[in-house]
Amino acid sequence: MAPRCDGLSDAAMKDLMAQAEKLPISTVVFVVALQAEALPLVDKLELIQDDKPPFPIGMPWIRFYGTYRDLFINVVCPGKDSTLGVDNVGTIPASLVTCASIQGIRPDLIINAGTAGGFKAKGASVGDVFIASSVAFHDRRIPVPVFDLYGVGTRKAFTTPNLVKELSLKVGNLSTGDSMDMSPQDEELIIANDATVKDMEGAAVAHVADLFKVPTIFIKAVTDIVDGEKPTSEEYLQNLPAVTAKLTQSVSQVLDFISGKCLSDL
Ligand code: ADE
Repeated sequence: MAPRCDGLSDAAMKDLMAQAEKLPISTVVFVVALQAEALPLVDKLELIQDDKPPFPIGMPWIRFYGTYRDLFINVVCPGKDSTLGVDNVGTIPASLVTCASIQGIRPDLIINAGTAGGFKAKGASVGDVFIASSVAFHDRRIPVPVFDLYGVGTRKAFTTPNLVKELSLKVGNLSTGDSMDMSPQDEELIIANDATVKDMEGAAVAHVADLFKVPTIFIKAVTDIVDGEKPTSEEYLQNLPAVTAKLTQSVSQVLDFISGKCLSDL
């Protein structure tokens, strides 16, 4: 479990984090937006649903937990919209559930796992699984000095060179926005972000994890080709089950790799 760092100086905090990097990873929180993405992983790892999750009463957020090898695994989802019954996708629910999970579960590592659109011009194909090297927003345009950079909010993901090499995963930048389609303005910023994959949660999870200094990695499986010919929503729905199965397979390989290792081994 990650150390508490309330009230520490920057230097003391760095010291504590350097020490934590040398301890075996113990508690992992997966932030997964869709239950359709989470449930195959929950089944594979034989996790159980927490009927008293460490979240404020009345929140729709869901936690599944259990042990896999020597890891304490948590899969958290932002749950369903109480009126429409669909998953709470996008940056606001992802931020809220990440914040509550860090406070309630105190993970050593966060893994934001899910599906994404991919750009064939950057080498993505349907079914590819990417590890994000950086994350940024593409729909927070604030044309005022410095606020422009704040809006884009570029953050480096926790680097995992050994993991990427061992599992032969593809690596690319991830760009996040609250729309599944892509407006011309979004496209401009996605290109500026040099993104290979596009999702609706990653940069929001990164923003919150950064506040608490929790190392975070992003695993994104491509359901649709954004710069292809097929309509995004059709291609997404058609490929979701098969791509989710690929995501689950990659995530369990990632856990096999992580097991027994320290953050600095990744
Ligand atoms: N998730 C899956 N496909 C996506 C896309 N094209 N844009 C944003 N999020 C996605």
